[in-house]
Amino acid sequence: MTQPKTVLITGASGLVGSALAVALRQRGHSVRTLSRSSGDVSWDLDKDMLEAGALDGVDSVVHLAGEPIAQRWTAEAKRQILDSRVKSTRLLSEAIASCDRKPSLICASGGNFYGYNISEFVDERSPSGDGFLAEVCRAWEGAAQPAIDSGARTVFMRTGIVLSAKGGALAKMLPPFKLGVGGRIGNGEQKMSWIGISDLVQAYVCAVENEAVSGAVNAVAPEPVTNEVFTKTLGKALGRPTIFPLPAGVVKTLFGEMGKETVLSDLGVLPKRLEALGFEWKTPELDAALKNAIH
Ligand SMILES: NC(=O)c1ccc[n+]([C@@H]2O[C@H](COP(=O)([O-])OP(=O)(O)OC[C@H]3O[C@@H](n4cnc5c(N)ncnc54)[C@H](OP(=O)(O)O)[C@@H]3O)[C@@H](O)[C@H]2O)c1
Repeated sequence: MTQPKTVLITGASGLVGSALAVALRQRGHSVRTLSRSSGDVSWDLDKDMLEAGALDGVDSVVHLAGEPIAQRWTAEAKRQILDSRVKSTRLLSEAIASCDRKPSLICASGGNFYGYNISEFVDERSPSGDGFLAEVCRAWEGAAQPAIDSGARTVFMRTGIVLSAKGGALAKMLPPFKLGVGGRIGNGEQKMSWIGISDLVQAYVCAVENEAVSGAVNAVAPEPVTNEVFTKTLGKALGRPTIFPLPAGVVKTLFGEMGKETVLSDLGVLPKRLEALGFEWKTPELDAALKNAIH
C-alpha cells in the first residue's frame, strides 16, 4: 500500500470516474470531485473558471471530463467534443503549473490518437494518425503542455473501448444482442482494442500511485480482437445467436463520420507501457472480461 493521497477527479459522475472514485477510496485515498454541477468543487469551462482553491492539498488530478463521443457529429457536437477536452485540460494544466507543490495530472485520452484505419498494430511509440478523434486526442494531450513544462508528472491514458454494462459501447450493444438480433458490423474484420472497466480502473490507480508512470500509456487489454471474434464471444457469453450482420453502409447512414471512426474503425492498440510496468490484467481475455461486465 502506498501513502494515502488526495485525488481530484473530473468527470467523476461518469462511467469511469464513478468506478475509479470507489476504488481509490477503498485503497485509502481521499477523493474530491470537480464537476460542472454536482462536485465538491466546480468549474465553468465557457468562462475559463476553476473554483479558487480547487487544487489545494491535491496530490493527483485525474481528468476524465469531456462531452460524449457517441452522438451524431454535427458541427456543434464536434466543437463541444473538442473544446470540452482542450479547454478543461488547459485550465487544469495552467492551475497545476501555478502551484508550489504540483499535483500530477493523469489525463484520459483515446486509442484513436493513432488513427482509425490502421492495418499494423500500434504501441505508444507509434505516430498519431488520421481522423477527427485523432485530432481531438492530439489537441487534448497538447493542452497539458503547461503542466509538462512546469515539471508536473503527466500521464495520458490512451483508452480503448471500455467494457461495462453500465455505459459506453457495450451497454449500447447489449439490447439487440440479448434479443438475438446482434451480429458483426461491416465485414467483421476490423480490429477492436478493448479493456474491462475494472482493469481500466486499476490502470488509473497504478498511474496515481506509481511516480514512475509518465507520458503515454495505452489502456487496453493485451490482445485486440476482430469485430467478428468480439461478436461471437459476446453472443456466447449471453447464450444468444449472432446471425444478423449490420452492413457498413447502414452504419454510415445511421451514424455518419462517428460510425466510421468508432464501430467501423480498424485499430489494434498494444499496451507496451503497462506490460513494461508489470501491470496484471484481471481479465486479459475477452470472454472473461465480457462475462465480468455482463453478470
Ligand atoms: N468509455 C470509453 O469507452 C472511453 C474510451 C476511450 C476514452 N474515453 C475517455 O475517458 C473519459 C471518461 O470516459 P467515461 O466513459 O467515463 O465518460 P462519461 O461517462 O461520458 O463521463 C464524462 C464526464 O464528463 C463530464 N462532461 C460531459 N460533457 C461535458 C462537457 N460538455 N464539458 C465538460 N464536462 C463534460 C460529465 O461530468 P460532470 O457532469 O460532473 O461535469 C461526465 O460525467 C472521457 O474523456 C472519454 O472520452 C472513454
